[in-house]
Amino acid sequence: MKLISVAIDGPVGAGKSTIARTAAERLNYIYCDTGALYRAVGLYCHRNGVDMNDPSAIAVSMGNINADIRLVDGVQRIFLNGEDVSDEIRLPEISMAASAVSAVPAVRSALLGLQREIAEKNSVIMDGRDIGTVVLPNADVKIFLTAKPEIRAKRRYGELIAKGKDVTFEEVLNDLNQRDYNDSHRAAAPLRQAADAVLADTSELDFGQSVDLVCGLIKERL
Ligand code: DC
Repeated sequence: MKLISVAIDGPVGAGKSTIARTAAERLNYIYCDTGALYRAVGLYCHRNGVDMNDPSAIAVSMGNINADIRLVDGVQRIFLNGEDVSDEIRLPEISMAASAVSAVPAVRSALLGLQREIAEKNSVIMDGRDIGTVVLPNADVKIFLTAKPEIRAKRRYGELIAKGKDVTFEEVLNDLNQRDYNDSHRAAAPLRQAADAVLADTSELDFGQSVDLVCGLIKERL
């Protein structure tokens, strides 16, 4: 059976992971959240006091990092040097650390093989920033998922408040804008829509409608 690969890229808080995970369940594909790998590297650097403004120090740290994605009961878990860090990588301070380390070419090249291997062995929906442009340039379907910044920030704010985090809407919006700026202005594999990706804007859609849109686009293109 031919393996299918679907690349979903887009800015912070576009709903990529929840939409992609649900679409993957519906279509019976593996879901792979590549941001988790950058978050694991960010967590290592954060824990070990690595200077986030020093790309060479971050690159050297890669020698001590083994970031791995494993499926446990069909759910993706992320391991850092053998430790399951799936929950810790979601802390807001790790988001910014992930964005910083993801600009370092040595980090990106170290994580590339693992991502491609997953798509070589499984039918997959993979989400990130450079999946359609760099990781899986021959993906069967490419979707660039986005929404207006205020709407993305509102959704992210709601999630954080529901988890009991002490944040303001302004902080969430500023953090989101800063990360989008970093991710799209870096030299190495910046966030951008692949020429052959279809644009999906979920600003006016609720979660269910967004999943329907993505599943519809995938089916249409296969
Ligand atoms: O999707 P996320 O917010 O979990 O990603 C965290 C950071 O990792 C994001 O700010 C940019 C980086 N990233 C990347 O550069 N390339 C990817 N394929 C996925 C994430």
